[in-house]
Amino acid sequence: MEGFPAEFVWGVATAAYQIEGAVAEDGRGPSIWDTFSHTPGRVAKGETGDVACDHYHRWPEDLDLLADLGVDAYRLSIAWPRVKPTGSGPVEQRGLDFYRRLLDGLRSRNITPYVTLYHWDLPQSLEDNGGWRVRDTAQRFAEYAEVVGSALAEFEPRWITLNEPYCSAIVGYAQGRHAPGAREGHGALAAAHHLLLAHGLAVGVLRSYGLPVGVTLNYSPIVPLSPAEEDRIAARRLDLVHNRIFLDPLLRGAYPDDYDEVLGSLTDRSFVRDGDLAIISTPVDFLGINYYFRIHVRAGTLTAGDTPHDIGVVYGTPDGPPRTMLDWPIEPEGLVETLVGLRAAYPGLPPIYITENGCAYPDRPDEPDDARIAYVADHLAALRRAMAAGVDVRGYFYWSLLDNFEWARGYDPRFGLVHVDYQTQVRTPKASYHWLREQLTS
Ligand code: FCB
Repeated sequence: MEGFPAEFVWGVATAAYQIEGAVAEDGRGPSIWDTFSHTPGRVAKGETGDVACDHYHRWPEDLDLLADLGVDAYRLSIAWPRVKPTGSGPVEQRGLDFYRRLLDGLRSRNITPYVTLYHWDLPQSLEDNGGWRVRDTAQRFAEYAEVVGSALAEFEPRWITLNEPYCSAIVGYAQGRHAPGAREGHGALAAAHHLLLAHGLAVGVLRSYGLPVGVTLNYSPIVPLSPAEEDRIAARRLDLVHNRIFLDPLLRGAYPDDYDEVLGSLTDRSFVRDGDLAIISTPVDFLGINYYFRIHVRAGTLTAGDTPHDIGVVYGTPDGPPRTMLDWPIEPEGLVETLVGLRAAYPGLPPIYITENGCAYPDRPDEPDDARIAYVADHLAALRRAMAAGVDVRGYFYWSLLDNFEWARGYDPRFGLVHVDYQTQVRTPKASYHWLREQLTS
C-alpha cells in the first residue's frame, strides 16, 4: 500500500467465540462466555455465541473472502475449551483437527496465521476452580500452549499469547461487564497477575518452536478533560490500571512505583512470587496493540478503594470528536499518541503490530459503509505519521473480517468488512471491503 514499506503485513482479525458457533460440537467444553451469555441480563437482548457466524462450518467460504481481499495475514483465536474441554484434562483431537484444517486452508491460500491462544474463552471448569484468580490457571495455560504449539507449529503461525489482559482481568473480574461477571477488588488484581504469568510461561513454551511470539494489549491514552492538576493526576491513576500494570511487568519486569499509592487497600500482592516478574518479562518478538479510542477523564472522589476502579476517576465525553455506534470517540491522533508515547516510555520496545482497529455501525448490506472507509483511511494516515516519527510498526489488522458477536453488546454493533445476515448466514462484502482490496493491490 502506498506510503508503507513493502514488507508491511496487512491483515484482518477475528476471535473464536465471536464467530465460530458450534459450541457443543466435536467435544468442545463450555467456556465462561457460554455461561455468561446464557445468564439473563448479561448480554444485550440475551444474545449468545451459540451460532454466531457459523464459521466452524463455513470457514472455507470465509477463507476465500480473505484470499479475495488480498491480505497477507489473518489473526484468529483458538478456543481453549475446544482443545482441552475442561482446561486441564485430556486433549480433544477433533478440536485440534479443526484448527489444523483452518491453518492448512490458510497455507494453501498463502496467508500467514497470527494465532491468539486466549481471546477470553476460559474453560468453565477452570473458572469453577477459581479462574484467573488462582495461580494454577497460569500453569494450565502453559500446558495448553504446549498442545497448541506442537499441533500447529508446522503451519508456521505467529503466536499471540493473550488478547487484552486488561479486559479479562479488570472488565471480567472487577467491573463484571464481561465473563465471568465478577465484581472484586483483590481477585481482579490477582487475575491480572496470573494472566501475565500465564503469558510468560507460554512464551517459554512457544519459543521452543522457533516462531515469533507476542502479546496483545488494548492500550488507550488517558486524557484529562481539563488542564487542572487534579484531573491530570486522575488520568495518571487510570493510566496505571488500564495500561501500566500490564506494560511495566511485561517490558520492565516490575510493577509501577505508584501501584501501592493508587490501589490503596488493594495492595496485598501476596500473589506475586519470587521469580514471577522475570518470567513475565521474558522478551517477546513483538507487541500487539489494539487501538480504538482515547479515554477522557476528570477527577472524582477518591474512596477507600474496594475495586481497582475506585480510584477517583470519572469518565467523560470530550466535545468535538464524532463517535461510532458504541459511542467510542473517533480520534486517529490517539493512535499516534499511543505509539509515540510507548516508544518514549519503554526503551527497547519490541516491534509493534496493530492487531486490532475498527469501528461499529448498524450497517445494512445494501448501503455503502462510507464512515468505515473514512475511519480506516484516517487511522492509516495516523499510522504513517507514527512510523515517520520513528516507531517500528510492522503490520495492521482491521477488526473485523466479519460482523460478529460483540460480547456484552450482542450482534447489533457491526464491525465487519463483510456483512453477515444472521438468519441466513449470507455474507455480503461491504464497500469498505472493496475499498481495502483496492488499496491492497495498488
Ligand atoms: C476488542 C476485542 C475484540 C472486539 C473489539 C471490538 O476489545 O479484542 O474481540 O470485540 O474490541
